[in-house]
This record gives sequence, C-alpha cells and structure tokens, in this order.
Amino acid sequence: MIATIFFNLFSMSKKLIAIHHRPGSFSDRWIEYCQENNFSYKLVDCNKTDIIKQLEGCLGLMWHWDLTDYKSYIFARQLTYSLTLKGIKVFPDQNTSWHYDDKVGQKYLLEAIGAPLVKTYIFYNKKEALKWLNTATFPKVFKLRGGAGSSNVKLAQDKKQARKFIRKAFIKGYPHKNRLEQLKERFWVLRRDRNIAGIENLVRGIGRFFIPKQNDKFYLKQKGYVYFQDFIPKNTFDTRIVVIGERCFGARRYCRTGDFRASGSGIFTYNPLLINKKMIAIAFDVAKKLGTQSLAFDFVIDNNDPKIIEMSYCFAIECCDDAPGYWDTNLKWCAGEVNLQKFMIQDFIEALNTNKHRSLKSSKQAIDE
Ligand SMILES: Nc1ncnc2c1ncn2[C@@H]1O[C@H](COP(=O)(O)OP(=O)(O)OP(=O)(O)O)[C@@H](O)[C@H]1O
Ligand SMILES: [Mg+2]
Repeated sequence: MIATIFFNLFSMSKKLIAIHHRPGSFSDRWIEYCQENNFSYKLVDCNKTDIIKQLEGCLGLMWHWDLTDYKSYIFARQLTYSLTLKGIKVFPDQNTSWHYDDKVGQKYLLEAIGAPLVKTYIFYNKKEALKWLNTATFPKVFKLRGGAGSSNVKLAQDKKQARKFIRKAFIKGYPHKNRLEQLKERFWVLRRDRNIAGIENLVRGIGRFFIPKQNDKFYLKQKGYVYFQDFIPKNTFDTRIVVIGERCFGARRYCRTGDFRASGSGIFTYNPLLINKKMIAIAFDVAKKLGTQSLAFDFVIDNNDPKIIEMSYCFAIECCDDAPGYWDTNLKWCAGEVNLQKFMIQDFIEALNTNKHRSLKSSKQAIDE
C-alpha cells in the first residue's frame, strides 16, 4: 500500500509514461485512462529526430504503430529496442512486436516453438517454388508477408493459378496495398450494410483507386519470395483470440458469403459459448512462451484441431468492446466490461511499478551491503 502511494507520488513528479498520440489509435484510450486515474503522462512524437531527448525522465513509452503508417516500418522496431537498452520500458516491446505484420517471420517463430501453425511453405527462389508445385496438393492459400482484412490473401485453386502467383512474386512483385482488393472490399461493405455510409465509403474508395494516398507510395513492393499455406477446408468462420497479460478474449468471425476469408467481413459474435477452449489454452501457452504483452491469434479448425493462421500484437481499436468478459489463465470465465487498451496500460503501469520497486530494493540492498 505504502509502496503504491510512494510510486504514485513518484510517477506524478517524474512523468511515469510517455505516449505517442495518434488520434484514432490506441493512444486515445491510453490517454483517457491516465486522465481518469490521475497518472502523469507526457505526450511525445516518435517521428521527430529528438525522440530520445523527449523521453528524458520518462520510465516507459507506449506507442501504437501499425501497418497504416509506412514510417513505422522504417524505424519503430529499431527505436523501441534501443529504448529498452536505455532502461525505458516500451509497449509494444520486442517480443511483442518484431513479428507484427510479418507472416514470414511468424512461420519460423511458431515452428521453432512447436506451436500449431497451419502448414506453411515459403520459397525465395522461383525455380524451387515451381518445382514444389509438382508435388503440392491444391487448393493452397497464397499470402503476402503483410496486410490486413484479407486484402493480401488469395486462393490458388490449382497448379496453374499457383504458378501465376509464383511468377508474379519473382518478376513484377505485388504492391503492399492492393488497391483493387480494397475497392472490392468497399463493395462488399456496401452490399452488407446497404446504407448511405456504405455509398460514401465506396465513392471515397473509387477516388483512392485512381489517386492513391501519398504515403501509400512509400511502401516497398513485395517480391523475391512466395508464401503458401495449406487450405483448411470447411471453416465458415475463423476465431480471433487475444491474450493481454493473464486475460484471454475471443470472437468468432464469419466468412463473407461465397468466400473462404473471414477477416474483414465485419460479421462476428462474442458469444463465449462459441469459443473453442483448446484455442484459449494454445493462445495462453504461445503468448507465455513468446513473452508478449498483447497478442491476437487467428485460428481455424483442422479436423477438430485448432490451427493458427497468423498473429498480430494490435488490431482494430474497438476489438472486443462488446465482449461480455474474458477467460483467466485457469480458463475460468470472468464476466465484466472489456476495454483492451485499458488492460494494456494497466499491465504496463503495473510492470513499471514492479521494475521501480525492484530497482529501489536493489539500491537499498546495495546501501545495506
Ligand atoms: N490456411 C487457411 N485455410 C483456410 N482459411 C484461411 C487460411 N488462411 C487464411 N484463411 C482465411 O482468410 C482470412 C484472412 O487470412 P489472414 O488472417 O492470414 O489475413 P490478414 O489479411 O492478415 O488478416 P487480419 O486482418 O486478421 O490481419 C482468415 O480470416 C481466414 O478466414
Ligand atoms: Mg488474420
């Protein structure tokens, strides 16, 4: 108790955490949490060259960077890792984020720890990939290393289609963002919602198709590798499982009509009775092995066995808002309000608190000795 009061006083005078604010991102809710709980925080701008100086006196940095910002691919991992060497705790830390939006990295990581990843094949050589086609079974799922909302995920029904994907991967390459797929996505949203917002969204999309955002031009082209996964049939939905600390959240996401892809369909339920417990256990186990602060998994079912298709430290800001609770590490259901960003910052502050006490304790021990 006394320790907590001391820590709170310390945090008020020392600027406990720095937050990079990007409106519309997790930082909206992190800031809200600090304000509601009287935690001292400092707004910083990670994009500025003097970021290390801005962080002077701060114990931790929270920065929600993601695939919508090309700059984060250039330096987010590098900056946050460097800060940890300086003793500044970060969210997301290296364990949590190095594999973000990197399905190639995830293949090796999940295989290395023996996690149940859907069988995945990667080739860095056209000849080798074409040779593999002779023994492969079909369909296979073709993916790019990055992307969200299923926009870079396609089905290769047969050898001929797979060959086309391989040729393009090693000759012309693929844009990181597929504008045609994104436009189709807006058509799908309009068909699903049939409202004015859907029409506006489509009109904006047509504009974006012809005139891409300036920033979109900075993403690197995807070429020189090709990624396939076994297609796991009969999945009319996938399951999104999120692990934040010792809490696990679940959603069932249904596929678009006439499509094998669920992500981005916008049709989902948080009914806990529909979430497979084996997935929760696997997710807790993988998150523990990887030592992550926040990790979302997408699962499908392969003959009764849950298989991971990919993972990501971040997700849509409103993810799980309507969930009626979560499971703890004993797989016990805990009913209650869900705000994933609040759980992230609670854990982060708690970890800072523990670190601080540990360092106060060790300096006291050093004095005693
Ligand atoms: N190997 C597979 N077998 C069957 N269905 C799959 C497979 N891989 C992906 N899918 C389906 O396609 C969807 C999109 O795949 P994936 O999650 O890999 O792409 P993404 O665009 O990165 O998604 P997200 O928006 O979740 O980041 C999944 O939600 C799932 O429904
Ligand atoms: Mg996914």
